[in-house]
Amino acid sequence: MVETGVDADGSVTGPHRVDTSHPGLVDGLADLWGRVTAAGGAVGFSPTDPVDRLRAAAAALVEDVRAEKAHLITIGQQHVLVGLAVLRQRQLPVRTHTGELAWLAVDPALQRKGWGKRLLDAVLVQAQAIGLEKLDLVTRSGHDLERFYEAHGWVERGRWPGAVRVAAGDDRDEIWFTRDV
Ligand SMILES: CC(C)(COP(=O)(O)OP(=O)(O)OC[C@H]1O[C@@H](n2cnc3c(N)ncnc32)[C@H](O)[C@@H]1OP(=O)(O)O)[C@@H](O)C(=O)NCCC(=O)NCCS
Repeated sequence: MVETGVDADGSVTGPHRVDTSHPGLVDGLADLWGRVTAAGGAVGFSPTDPVDRLRAAAAALVEDVRAEKAHLITIGQQHVLVGLAVLRQRQLPVRTHTGELAWLAVDPALQRKGWGKRLLDAVLVQAQAIGLEKLDLVTRSGHDLERFYEAHGWVERGRWPGAVRVAAGDDRDEIWFTRDV
C-alpha cells in the first residue's frame, strides 16, 4: 500500500456523492480498504489478500457507480479518500423499495470522530432521494459493530454463527441488520 500520511487532526471534507469516476478513484478505494483491513477492520478482505484483489473489487465498484447500480458517498482529506459508504438499490421488481448498505469504512486514523455517523446519515439522505423505504446490511461479530449500528437506528434481525472465517480458527457470526428510511 502507498503511504498516504492521513492526518488524524487534519481537516476532512464531505460526505460527497460521487457520480462520475475520476483518475485515482480505483486506487483511492483500494488503498483505503487496504489501510482499514490492515488495522483489523471488517470490510470483507483479509490482510493477506494481494493488492490486485482490492483493486479488482474497487474497479468493479467504480463500474457499478458509472452504470448507476451503486451510489458512492465519500469523505476526503487533501485528495486522499478517507471514508466511504456504498448504497445499492435492489433490482428485482419486488425488492426495488429496498436497498443494501454494501460498504462502510472510515480511515483508521480518523475513526471515532463521528465520520461513520455522518456517512450513515448521508446514506439515508440518498436512500430517501431515490425513493427507498427500507435498508439492510450484513456485518460480522467481534468488532462491537452491533453497538454502532443499534445506536443509529438499525435493528438486528438475525445472525448466522460461524459464517465469516477471518482466519483459520477465527470464525465470526454474520449479522443481519435492517432499518426503515
Ligand atoms: C465502523 C466505522 C465505519 C465507524 O466509523 P467511525 O467514524 O469510527 O464512527 P463514529 O465516530 O461515527 O462512531 C464511533 C462509534 O462506533 C462504534 N464502533 C464500533 N466499532 C468501532 C471501531 N472498530 N472503531 C471505532 N468505532 C467503532 C463505537 O460505538 C463508537 O462509539 P464510541 O467511540 O462512543 O465507543 C469505522 O470504525 C470503520 O471503518 N471500521 C472498520 C470497517 C468496518 O468495520 N466497517 C463496517 C462494516 S459493516
